[in-house]
Amino acid sequence: MLLPDKVAIINGGATGMGRSTAIKFAEEGCSSVIADINETDGKKTAEEASKKGRECIFVNCDITDLAQIKDCVDQTVKKFGTVDILVGCAGGVPKSGLVKPSQRIERPKRGIQHTDEKFWDIMMDLNLKGHVFFCKEVSPYMIKQKYGKIVLISSLGVFSPPSSAAEYHSAKAAILGLVYNLAFELAPHNINVNAVLPGPIKTPFYDPMMVNMSEKEKEARFTEMGKSVPLQRIGLPEDIANTVLFFASDMSSYISGETLIVGGGKPLPVYREMV
Ligand SMILES: NC(=O)c1ccc[n+]([C@@H]2O[C@H](COP(=O)([O-])OP(=O)(O)OC[C@H]3O[C@@H](n4cnc5c(N)ncnc54)[C@H](O)[C@@H]3O)[C@@H](O)[C@H]2O)c1
Repeated sequence: MLLPDKVAIINGGATGMGRSTAIKFAEEGCSSVIADINETDGKKTAEEASKKGRECIFVNCDITDLAQIKDCVDQTVKKFGTVDILVGCAGGVPKSGLVKPSQRIERPKRGIQHTDEKFWDIMMDLNLKGHVFFCKEVSPYMIKQKYGKIVLISSLGVFSPPSSAAEYHSAKAAILGLVYNLAFELAPHNINVNAVLPGPIKTPFYDPMMVNMSEKEKEARFTEMGKSVPLQRIGLPEDIANTVLFFASDMSSYISGETLIVGGGKPLPVYREMV
């Protein structure tokens, strides 16, 4: 096992790559807390992961609310004694059915000329600020035990945007600054801090962008997206969970401040013969 007797918090662990990470961690001997606003899927994932051998619990936690972050870390320590691993998966565009009323907003039209201050703040809170404060709350426990792993999910879109989304890409780029700073600051305490930059991965992340599509149309869109990838397929949540596992385990104990693209070969172009 790669994570024997470890304790992790996985924010955004209800669905997608966070869900896959929670299940993988349980298989590797790690107890986890899923911190998410999606209670229905979060509880399902916790149940599924727990069946793999290690206890996984759901904590209702909105990472845009700093008091809830503190409460989630407190609950984790109360339940499992400490926190060894933080995985920061929560992010994307807020899903209208899940977020609090103050965060319900029509996504502005794409393009810098349509940038909207409220949408900007919401995107920064979800994709950046919440992660800063999760790191703040877990770090004292990691420093005390002289051991910790922080893995934050950024995006390949930072370097190679598939479409214009300045708020999202700015927040995800700032995650890299956070990772470099914390890797440097926390290294003397034996805490590794790394980022994963996914390319296109088939998850509910795309739900807000595919609201009016049937399942068949969504599948067709995912297949189409796969054609832009050198490896000729869209990524799966497990592709990211495997990388997160690497960074969360001692397989990567001499790696910190690394930002790894997991994009099926992207941003390389798709191969074709030159004539
Ligand atoms: N899927 C992709 O192609 C892709 C590519 C690059 C980066 N990412 C990033 O990967 C991460 C995981 O996304 P995913 O693809 O698994 O999609 P996802 O939508 O399945 O996962 C995001 C999770 O975050 C949770 N969440 C949303 N708002 C929250 C809040 N305020 N507090 C707590 N939890 C909240 C959601 O409920 C969900 O469980 C995100 O940060 C996303 O930006 C995704």
